[in-house]
Amino acid sequence: MGEPFIDANFRLVDHNGNQFDSTKVGVFKLIYFGFTHCPDVCPEELEKIAKTISIVEKDTKKSGIVVPIFISCDPHRDKPEVLKSYLEDFGGRFVGLSGTPEEVERVARQFRVYFKKSSIGNSGGNDYLLDHSIFIYLISPENEFIEIFGRDKDAAACAKIISEKIKN
Ligand code: NI
Repeated sequence: MGEPFIDANFRLVDHNGNQFDSTKVGVFKLIYFGFTHCPDVCPEELEKIAKTISIVEKDTKKSGIVVPIFISCDPHRDKPEVLKSYLEDFGGRFVGLSGTPEEVERVARQFRVYFKKSSIGNSGGNDYLLDHSIFIYLISPENEFIEIFGRDKDAAACAKIISEKIKN
């Protein structure tokens, strides 16, 4: 059952430069918003997602039942080729998405994701960080919001909940 306040229907561009339509995926999705220059939080969360999915696949004996998706809040720097190379370090399964700043902002609003350029490294140009909310969203094959995971849940805790949802 999805809570109605998150609208998971969107279109962006993937790490190969192809159009991505969230309604056409057909399996569960774990969606996370971040940026590739993030020094520590995003890498930790991406590793957690990869680990979560490997546990879920063992639990459910269904490989490919969950696709991990990383949506960049930093489309200015995170072009598809940047996302592609960055995400190879996290198991090679992630779909990396970006778009125009307006498209990314719209999708972030749909997920109630907050992000903002931080003043640290505010020397202009390309040297900046982003403050952003840190949540992982579980979306059903029918593209409905199911569950949200914060940093308090580790991979095992996330996987337990997701496996139960998949089996039900
Ligand atoms: Ni981050």
